[in-house]
Amino acid sequence: KYEGLAMTPPMGWNSWNTFATNIDEKLVKETADIMVSSGLVNAGYNYIVLDDGWMAKERDENGNLVPDPVKFPSGMEHLIEYVHSKGLKFGLYNCAGTKTCAGYPGTRGYEYQDARFYAKLGIDFLKYDWCNTQGITAKEAYNTMSNALKTAGRPIVFSLCEWGDNQPWEWATPMGNLWRISGDIYPCFDCEYKHPENWSSWGFMKIADMRKDIRKYSGPDHWNDFDMMEVGNEMNDTEDKAHFSLWCMLSSPLFTGNDYRKMSKKTLAILTNKELIAVNQDKLGIQGFKLSAEDGLEVWVKPLSDGNWAITFLNRTDAAKKINFDWKNNPIKDADFGFVADFNKTVFKIKDLWKNKEAGTTKKNFTADIASHDVITLRLIP
Ligand code: DGJ
Repeated sequence: KYEGLAMTPPMGWNSWNTFATNIDEKLVKETADIMVSSGLVNAGYNYIVLDDGWMAKERDENGNLVPDPVKFPSGMEHLIEYVHSKGLKFGLYNCAGTKTCAGYPGTRGYEYQDARFYAKLGIDFLKYDWCNTQGITAKEAYNTMSNALKTAGRPIVFSLCEWGDNQPWEWATPMGNLWRISGDIYPCFDCEYKHPENWSSWGFMKIADMRKDIRKYSGPDHWNDFDMMEVGNEMNDTEDKAHFSLWCMLSSPLFTGNDYRKMSKKTLAILTNKELIAVNQDKLGIQGFKLSAEDGLEVWVKPLSDGNWAITFLNRTDAAKKINFDWKNNPIKDADFGFVADFNKTVFKIKDLWKNKEAGTTKKNFTADIASHDVITLRLIP
């Protein structure tokens, strides 16, 4: 892969969660414009990625991919120039199989040709899916495409999307900058959505709980990807806040998946919370983990640079709860990376990151009310 393109988790917008294959030039331009005018770009979101559905159903007579001329009447070059002119980066999608999941031409057998096509177009990011891959192995297929991109000569972030079934965290660091660890997200708090075709999508709490033992494989330029976010889609603001907090705690890539043209002020405020984004983008790049869960009150922690910690209390139950957290009896030990917080030895100042307010020190118990599905995220500063 091209090294060093994603030293902190990449941030941007992806078309799939809201639009599926209903994407076009107008949508992309409006999205780019709003990203700039709303402050999303200032907050760090800088990729626009078109997922499945941007291609015509057939390659041309030379075997080249063809951007759908109806959806993109001014051409893909024009659109990419437009996005670049706004100071943004641009990404596309394809699939390692013979066809994409939505039935468009896949890359199998065309890896080097497609990589040259992308480099010539000037894209900056490629998401590479895993449908229709009978008879090939993931490690080889992703390695081939990674080499093809490298050979094509343009720095392009490579995003693996094989859903974690082949343990990409064990082999993909040299090939890619991020890899999905799960099947698709679903806009609900804690549900499993069973599709009629016999596969499942997952509420964000379910995804956050998957693959508990792989955090040691994530870090700068090689991220565990918990999927594009559903903030601003079907959940309420409280659940969106919890969702965003966990994606920040987990050092997940932060790809929004909502329609910016219909975004509420509250959704924008959640997505652009600077303090939460700083937790996600912390330069150590260490994925957080669940420290404890008692009666549905979960405590998630994440080591940060300069001896800081982020800590998130999350109420997974349907009723309001009271928090009474005794720091001294809850030392934090990070078994994978060796970080320790012993509150008997070190006193930390506390900042509440959603209230943007000082909240005392770790000398006293932390007490608060927490609504159903809500979170409280704190930064601890020694
Ligand atoms: C499956 C992936 O997991 C999704 O994120 C999306 O890219 C679809 N395929 C597109 O068909």
